[in-house]
Amino acid sequence: MEEHTLGRRFRDIDSSGDAAQLLEYLDGYGSIPAVREEKQASLALLELGRGAAALDVGCGTGDDVLALAALVGPDGAAVGVDPSASAIAEAKRRGAGVRQASFREASAEHLPYPDATFDACRSDRTFQHLADPEAALRELIRVTRPGGRLAVTEVMNILLIDGAPDPSTTGRTVLGELWASRERTTWIGYMLPLLIGRAGLVGAGARSQERAVSSFDAIQRMFPVRRLAHSAVSAGRLAAADADRWLADLDSAAERGGLELRMMFLHAYGVKPPA
Ligand SMILES: C[S@@+](CC[C@H](N)C(=O)[O-])C[C@H]1O[C@@H](n2cnc3c(N)ncnc32)[C@H](O)[C@@H]1O
Repeated sequence: MEEHTLGRRFRDIDSSGDAAQLLEYLDGYGSIPAVREEKQASLALLELGRGAAALDVGCGTGDDVLALAALVGPDGAAVGVDPSASAIAEAKRRGAGVRQASFREASAEHLPYPDATFDACRSDRTFQHLADPEAALRELIRVTRPGGRLAVTEVMNILLIDGAPDPSTTGRTVLGELWASRERTTWIGYMLPLLIGRAGLVGAGARSQERAVSSFDAIQRMFPVRRLAHSAVSAGRLAAADADRWLADLDSAAERGGLELRMMFLHAYGVKPPA
């Protein structure tokens, strides 16, 4: 069952059989106001000036690279890498006409750049998908110049349902379509400051910020419960009647104001020691 989860499919978007839906999910998620604000906060940790060169690892559809491009200006360089050809094609489409933005197919574990290429490197909600996050971190550090900054962000999400039958088998089955309990998922966010400190960065630190989202519409961009319930039914993991009952309960919880998404944004950062 775990091979079908959203978390697993992000490891290899192109082989997921559903690249368009995964990219659409990224857009929905990125449109949540709290997410946009925290993305700005994570970009600020890089302390980029005009003319700087910055790298976003696991850039997805490239919107954060375009934000980096705005920060570094036309004389800088904002580069995005992602192993997914579909994501990079979409990122290139969005970045057409922004001369300082560029995109390349590559994995975090093997960055196709010489040592000390970038003034700053970042990664957002990508480390949770990596088989070897420490190897990736070494690569980010390698391509950063001495004195350059790194920032890695993860988000941990909890869906609170007041008065509805969750946790229940139905709730776990539906939400299990997103992440399997034995996946690494976002707890890696809590480990990142330790990994960054162990990797020898100076001034290593962490900033965490919890945000609450109560609009059912915004919550569904993160937890698309209807689609997930239907796919659990089609896959034979859930009876249709149980799915309908659970969704109806969720609707009444939402009407009562009994739904809340708690998002814990975890930003870890540090500076590569000056040479
Ligand atoms: C949840 S998405 C986040 C995308 C983007 N950073 C954002 O915040 O919208 C995770 C991204 O990690 C990418 N990814 C998966 N494995 C990777 C790897 N080994 N190296 C770099 N990126 C990877 C996926 O292709 C996907 O675009």
